Amino acid sequence: MPWIQLRLSANEETAEKYSDWLSACGAQAVTFIDAKDTPIYEPLPGDEVTYWSNTVVMGLYDASHDMDKVLSYLKSIHPDKDEMQYKLEQLEDKDWEREWMDNFHPMKFGQRLWICPSWREIPEPDAVNVMLDPGLAFGTGTHPTTSLCLTWLDGLDLTGKTVVDFGCGSGILSLAALKLGAEKVIGIDIDPQALQASRENAKRNNVEDRLELYLPKDQPQFEADVVVANILAGPLRELAPVITAYAKPNGLLALSGVLEEQATNLLEIYGQNCTMDPIAVQEEWVRLSGKKR
Ligand SMILES: C[S@@+](CC[C@H](N)C(=O)[O-])C[C@H]1O[C@@H](n2cnc3c(N)ncnc32)[C@H](O)[C@@H]1O
Repeated sequence: MPWIQLRLSANEETAEKYSDWLSACGAQAVTFIDAKDTPIYEPLPGDEVTYWSNTVVMGLYDASHDMDKVLSYLKSIHPDKDEMQYKLEQLEDKDWEREWMDNFHPMKFGQRLWICPSWREIPEPDAVNVMLDPGLAFGTGTHPTTSLCLTWLDGLDLTGKTVVDFGCGSGILSLAALKLGAEKVIGIDIDPQALQASRENAKRNNVEDRLELYLPKDQPQFEADVVVANILAGPLRELAPVITAYAKPNGLLALSGVLEEQATNLLEIYGQNCTMDPIAVQEEWVRLSGKKR
């Protein structure tokens, strides 16, 4: 089906409101990008989201939608009226899901670890291969925040270790840890779709008996050898006591989903209970890691 995309300029105050407007005008999907084109993690219903100061809110409409009507309505309620910054784009008639799948190829992280789309050939059958279909959850390995965690996990000896994956998404980090030798992983996510994707991916990799999955309201008390949390800087800050408590004394932590300018503050917070390593950088994202004292 052909689509029309409406891009509406916003900022951190207006982004959520404009997203509601686009949905109210019949958008099939609403996405946010910042001025640097970094996608914002998919917000959950009722969730607080960090918006960049120059956000573009994009609504996707099927081509038969009356966009003149949408635009005249938006202009009637927009604070800048006729100055409203927007762009309409006709998207080609493509199978979007298929195209995304076509662009997802096996990727290697560190020395041993491969993430392989479940519908593709495995390039190195003797390597540590995670077969993955992210479904509706975040986590394919293509995003620098995930890549930084996968490389970190690959560099550890996880044999017989216990791991907590906070914000497990597709389960990509949990599965990588299990395939790298971890005995047991606890995955936690606020999104039930993420838990479902993690469960299906665990089955795909025959490790479902070693992966426990929880919503935060049900999360168990547990002390793990290794904790990995790829969530945004805001939740990492707020949940620092919870995330740190999941590590045993001398346990290792990796924190991702952090922009370079947010690192100093998080290093201070986590440095209260952990000895922190130098940060690792990929594009504008950083990974913090350390050892709990
Ligand atoms: C950036 S994705 C990371 C997914 C995967 N671990 C990866 O590295 O690609 C962040 C995940 O954290 C989850 N999340 C966000 N806030 C959370 C919270 N407060 N508690 C638990 N999970 C959370 C989101 O639902 C999402 O699946």
